[in-house]
Amino acid sequence: MPSSDVPSSDVPCALDAFIAAQSFERPTVVLEIARLRAQYHRLKAGLGRAEIHYAVKANPEPRLIAALVGEGSGFDAASRGEIALCLAQGADPARISFGNTVKRASDIAYAHAVGVRLFAADSAAELDKIAAHAPRAEVYIRLLVGSCEADWPLSRKFGCDGAMALELLDYARALGLEPVGLSFHVGSQTRRAEMWAAPLAELAKTWKAAQAAGHGLSLLNIGGGFPAFYGEAIEAPCAYAGAVMAQIDSLFDAPTRVMAEPGRGLVAEAGVIVCEVLLVSQKSAQDSLRWVYLDIGRFSGLAETEGEAIRYPFETAKDGQAMGPCVLAGPSCDSADVLYEKRPVMLPLALAVGDRVLIRNTGAYTTTYSSVGFNGFPPLDVQVI
Ligand SMILES: Cc1ncc(COP(=O)(O)O)c(C=O)c1O
Repeated sequence: MPSSDVPSSDVPCALDAFIAAQSFERPTVVLEIARLRAQYHRLKAGLGRAEIHYAVKANPEPRLIAALVGEGSGFDAASRGEIALCLAQGADPARISFGNTVKRASDIAYAHAVGVRLFAADSAAELDKIAAHAPRAEVYIRLLVGSCEADWPLSRKFGCDGAMALELLDYARALGLEPVGLSFHVGSQTRRAEMWAAPLAELAKTWKAAQAAGHGLSLLNIGGGFPAFYGEAIEAPCAYAGAVMAQIDSLFDAPTRVMAEPGRGLVAEAGVIVCEVLLVSQKSAQDSLRWVYLDIGRFSGLAETEGEAIRYPFETAKDGQAMGPCVLAGPSCDSADVLYEKRPVMLPLALAVGDRVLIRNTGAYTTTYSSVGFNGFPPLDVQVI
């Protein structure tokens, strides 16, 4: 493995020294900008000619956005708020795409007014909105891909089938828009590059049919899906991205522009959550299974534990000691606030009230999933180094 392609989770970092030297009054995610920059370069090296448009939804921390502007990244925005955030950090509106297929008309008008030119759609009604509020804009059509092996699938809700995509390209042109390409999302946390093969083949079929129907498509938007390390082996970022690009090169006749929208794969490993144990208990004298309650839970940043889909790596100062299984739960008075029960988590038997717990690689999809005031708990705090 080239030294530039070591997973950032394996690189000694300033995060640990910073965390060790601090006390934290409430659950906090600490983000390290140097890690983010290093990961950007690893992905960029693998993606080659593809442009990176960071998916802001993964973590909209302004200092992180500013760092990515400095690296030359573009942005995938889901709303007016995310566009305004990127602009405030110095992003070029020509490098922002409005990638949500369900947009408020007034948000489209705002995006158009500030210079955003590229919009996503997966329906005729969305194209009507774009034509009315961003005349002559460039649009790409999002495809629904059937095959998905991701840990956090994004299938069903977004995209349309190939036949409808062809109709929408025609319809966009009839509305005076510029239909430039197609997009899809392979599903978030797609752990191996080979898992892209079937969805890319589906996409290529529609791409070729569109070209045969006279659409000179120039933009292939491959979305996100690049994985983070959560304890299960994943390919290193540069090799993974390179393998995805190799598949694209073998399936498509050199699209002029390839765009990738990594979210999780770019920011997850730049962050560590610091939290603490509130309680360790058992449900009866006969039941030896421990319940460990943390001061962070499903409603305060760990929403992706839903269905136990994303399994975060936990770390404590007692990890060298005897370990045992436990059910891990959050602090709120809601029985849905259980993080891992079907597959219990191994934690030290000596773990006690007040012990610090680190949750590694939690820079993505945590801060913004944190509820405001549920049960009176404050949202996840953020510190940036
Ligand atoms: C349109 C779009 N692009 C990119 C992403 C980022 O995906 P990931 O975090 O898997 O890289 C998402 C995630 O929901 C998305 O909706």
